[in-house]
Parts: sequence; structure tokens; C-alpha cells
Amino acid sequence: MCGIVGYIGKREVTPILVNGLKRLEYRGYDSAGIVVIDKKGTGHLAREVGKVAMLEKALAKSNWGTASIGIAHTRWATHGVPSERNAHPQSDCTSSFWVVHNGIVENYKDLKDALIAEGHKFISDTDTEVIAHLIEKFYHLADSKANGHRLVNAVRQTLRQIKGTYGIAVVSKLEPDKIIAARNSSPLILGIGTDENLVASDASAVISHTKNVIYLNDGEIAEVRGDGFRIETVGGDGEETKAKVEEIEWDMEKIEKGGHEHFMHKEIFEIPEVIENSMRGRLILEEGRAKLGGIEDVKEKLREVKRIIIAACGTANAAARVAEYMIEEYAGVPTEVDIASEFRYRKPVFTEHNLLLAISQSGETADTLAAIKEAKEKGVMTMGIVNVVGSSIARETGVGIYNHAGPEISVASTKAFISQLVLSALFTVFLGRQRDMSIVMGQRIGEALKELPGMVRRLLADEPHIIELAKKYKDTRGMLTLGRKYNAPIATEAAIKLKELCYLPVIDLPAGEMKHGTIALIAPDFPSLVIAPEDSVYEKTKSTIEQIKARGGPIIAITTEGNTELERFTKDIMYIPKTLEMLTPILATIPIYLFAYHIARLRGHDIDKPRNLAKSVTVE
Ligand code: M6R
Repeated sequence: MCGIVGYIGKREVTPILVNGLKRLEYRGYDSAGIVVIDKKGTGHLAREVGKVAMLEKALAKSNWGTASIGIAHTRWATHGVPSERNAHPQSDCTSSFWVVHNGIVENYKDLKDALIAEGHKFISDTDTEVIAHLIEKFYHLADSKANGHRLVNAVRQTLRQIKGTYGIAVVSKLEPDKIIAARNSSPLILGIGTDENLVASDASAVISHTKNVIYLNDGEIAEVRGDGFRIETVGGDGEETKAKVEEIEWDMEKIEKGGHEHFMHKEIFEIPEVIENSMRGRLILEEGRAKLGGIEDVKEKLREVKRIIIAACGTANAAARVAEYMIEEYAGVPTEVDIASEFRYRKPVFTEHNLLLAISQSGETADTLAAIKEAKEKGVMTMGIVNVVGSSIARETGVGIYNHAGPEISVASTKAFISQLVLSALFTVFLGRQRDMSIVMGQRIGEALKELPGMVRRLLADEPHIIELAKKYKDTRGMLTLGRKYNAPIATEAAIKLKELCYLPVIDLPAGEMKHGTIALIAPDFPSLVIAPEDSVYEKTKSTIEQIKARGGPIIAITTEGNTELERFTKDIMYIPKTLEMLTPILATIPIYLFAYHIARLRGHDIDKPRNLAKSVTVE
């Protein structure tokens, strides 16, 4: 995700901020920026697309006066492509207030329209710029006798207008002796030094200056000066809150991974938050429908769509296959999935009102990109579900939905996959409500989606049990993974992970297909992982389990909590909470990810960078 660093004290601020940004680079970003206020009260801004090194190069040419206060940011685009004008810090009409922001302002469109009507001029496409203009507005409305606290009051009033998530740092040349910091669902810490203080989204940016930090809580706002700080509430009467200074004990490497041993582990544990972020502002529960900003402009064309072809690779292809089940069952639109690398070589036949949907985490996968170009060449409408804003696929498709899953660093895709499933469900509701889906059905799916983050948290808490299973199966010579209907693609996703992380030969099949040949592999030293939630095909999947048992094959089962029946066949069961059938893949995937992760760890593999693989496959 994006990174924030701010400094106020006596030292020259620019190198401190640039080094802080470098410490945040591991989080992934597409652009970086900095603003400092010099001793004369002049603000100096620099923003660059690309690496912090580019920003550093630009700064080397600048001739800024001595400054000891400033804020800086690495941006991971959510609203607006990566560009200089969309990079942070963002400012108001008068370039008096500067904001860096992590998170999403859900109601930015309404706020922006109102501010424009009041005469404010916007430069960027970001949601963040709204914050700067609101601060400008409230600062000038504020009581000018507010004893040097006008800025904190203006920021507080601004935040009260905002729906969404934020970690922010604000500086102003009108009060150049302080940084205002606040948080709501996006981490922010204060680094407490001697005659200097820092603000950062991550301890890695402050640790070379101080080990003493305060973790801001949601709903808190801090006025940070060089010689002290005061923390208050954003809501209520803005009363002062008690701050606890804690000492960081982690080393750098551990901090970058948020205390996790690997990025993959960290990213799996981010999944509850990722589900929330992927849905944020997109579910209109009262109306049982999904509001997907990126496709609003083409909604009438989508209403006409008669057939959807989804092109994707690897894990994204498994997500596409789940989407196929969802869209056909709930929206009634004929849908088929193509492996993108095959798509353009098989002379696909298009008819009128076709849609080519591309799913890709990186947005750079060459095969998927080629499929889009092929479809466009034939005059077919294209759309993307992409995580990386401004990536090649996002630009080539023109319209689409962004995942908002944050940067995925581990080569094995985990949180992005779950987000792809969530967006597939939202897109299904979107299409369904344009067709025959009732408001009640839209609401049922919406309500079930909202329960998922809590359910995933419970599944993650079951990690010790999964570690025991991983210990038992870590030396297996191979595995079979099976599932039916919505969970047939999850058998594939399980196989991808067990192959790429554990280097195990794994065969994945829709469970019903096993008896047509692969059953010959069943043996006491060849286990099968069977995904068997209590859904509409449960009885059928159970009979597959019986067939494996009858041939002496070990079984690892995934089923619904409360279903004790499978204990007759195996003791190795991972339980998932009950949810709508179409959402079971989301829950079933969580124990599978932990299982594959721990087998790979126990086998001593390089988890975040498995052999022979790259994060984006940009060659055909
Ligand atoms: O960036 P994309 O989603 O287009 O990438 C597609 C595949 O290369 C990717 O999902 C790959 O299969 C992952 N390493 C699986 O974990």
C-alpha cells in the first residue's frame, strides 16, 4: 500500500524524508512525492512517477532553502493513474495546505462536486485532493483567534465530512510549526525523538531515528511539534486522549513484513481487510445492488451483453472459472473462460453483444493482454478486473474494476485472488440486477459478502491446526486436489499453490472426473485434498470421497462447520463457516493457502520467490 513519512525538528528534513521513503519502498508503489516548508515559510514540492531514486534525482537539481518540516509519500494508485499530478502531497487552491493520504475517501465524488460548486479548482483525479480543499475551506471559516490551533481544528472538521479510510499527514505554510496526523483504518504511528518527532505509516520509516513510537488509534488526530505532541479525538468534543509510548523491538526485515516471516503470510493475513477494501462503497445493500464506478459509463452497453468470455492466466484463471459459475447462475448471462494463452490461437468466434473480460492482478500479463487486443481487433467490447491501477491491461481495456487489494509482493497470488472472487460476486450482482435478479437476492448476496471478513479472521485463527496437517503431509510424493461446481476451480487454485510453493506434482480435477482415469493413482501414499462444503453437490462429492477411501487413499477434507459426517473417512478435516454456496470458494481457499504455505516452509523453500517464477509474466 501507500507509505507516509513526515518529520519536524531541527535537522535538514529532505534527506530524512527521502531515506524514510526508501524504507517504505518494499510496500510497492508507483510514484513518490515530498513537500517541505523552509525557514521563510515557503513550500517546496517535488513529485515523480516511478522509483524514489527518480525523486531523489529531481531533488538533487532543486535549490530549496533550509527546511526542518515536511511530509512525503509513496503512492499506490487507487483514484487516477500514476502521474505527477496524481502523486501526493496534494494541495488546495492556494497551495497553502499539503496532504499525504493512505486509504480511500468513499464519498469523494459528492464532496468534490460540492467544493467545485463553491469555486474550488481541482487539478488531480485523486480522492485525496478533496481533503486538501476541505481543510482550506474550514481553515478560513475557523475562528482566527483559535490560538494557533486552527489547523488541527480545520483537519478535524474535514475528517468529520469524510466517509472511508485514511491515514493522513498534513502541513501548512500558515502554521509551519506542526504536522497534523490522523488515522481511521489505515495505520499511522508517531516516532518520538529528542527535539524532533516523526509521523509514518510504518515503523520502518522511523526506526533509524527512534525506537519509541505511539500507534495512533482509529478516530485519533495528533498535533505534532518538534518539542511535543497532543493527541485528541476526531469525533466528540475533540478531547485529549492518553498516548502510550512503546518501544519497537523488531529488526528491519521483520518490520517490512509486518512481523510475518514471509510476504505471502502477511498477504494471507491481510485478506479480511482486502475483502473490506474491495467492497468499500460498492455495495448498496438497501437496493440490493452493486455500484461499480469504473463501469458506470458503460452500464447501458453491459445491459445488452449476451455472452461473456473471460480471459486470464494461472490463479486469475481459477478466479475466472468461479466467476463463470456465479454469472451464469445469478445473472443468467452465458459465460465461458479461456486460458488467455490459448485464446487468440483458437480463432474465437464472436457474435453480437459479446464482452471480453480480462482478470489480472498485475495488469501486465502478456497472454492476457494479447487476448484483449485480439478481441478489440474483432470489435468486441473489453473490460478488466485488475489490481494495478494504470497497468497495461487497465489501459487497454479502458473500462473495468480495480481490486483495491494493495500491492502483492509474494509471487504466489493470494489476497488478489480473494479480491478477484469478491469483485466477481459484485459484478454478478451488478449484471443480475440489470436482468432478472430480485432486490432480495441482491441483498442476500450483499449480506453474505459482508460477513466474510469476520469469517476469514476465524479461519486464520485456526492456523495451528493447519500447521499440524502440514507437518503430516509435508513429505508426500504428490497429491490430488478435487472439488465440484464452485469449488472445482478451487481444486485448481490449490494445485497451483502446492506446485509453485511446495514443488509437488499435483493433479487437480473436478471431482466427478476422477473416476475417468486419475483414480488409478489412488494409493496409501498419494493423498487427496477434497473440497466438500455442504452445498448443492455435497452428496456427489461425498461419493468421490468414498471411492478414494475404498481404495486406501488418504483424504484431507474441507467441509462446513458442524458437518461431522466426513469423520468416518478421515480425521484430517479443515472446517469452514456456512455461507452462500457461491461464496464458499472464498472461505475454502483460506485453509488451503495456509496449508500450502506451511508445507513449503517446512520443506525450507524460498516462499516469496519460488524457483523459475516471476511475479508478472510479461513474455508470451
Ligand atoms: O498478474 P496476473 O494475475 O495476470 O498473473 C497471472 C498468473 O501469472 C498468476 O496468477 C500466477 O499463476 C501466480 N503466481 C499464482 O500464484
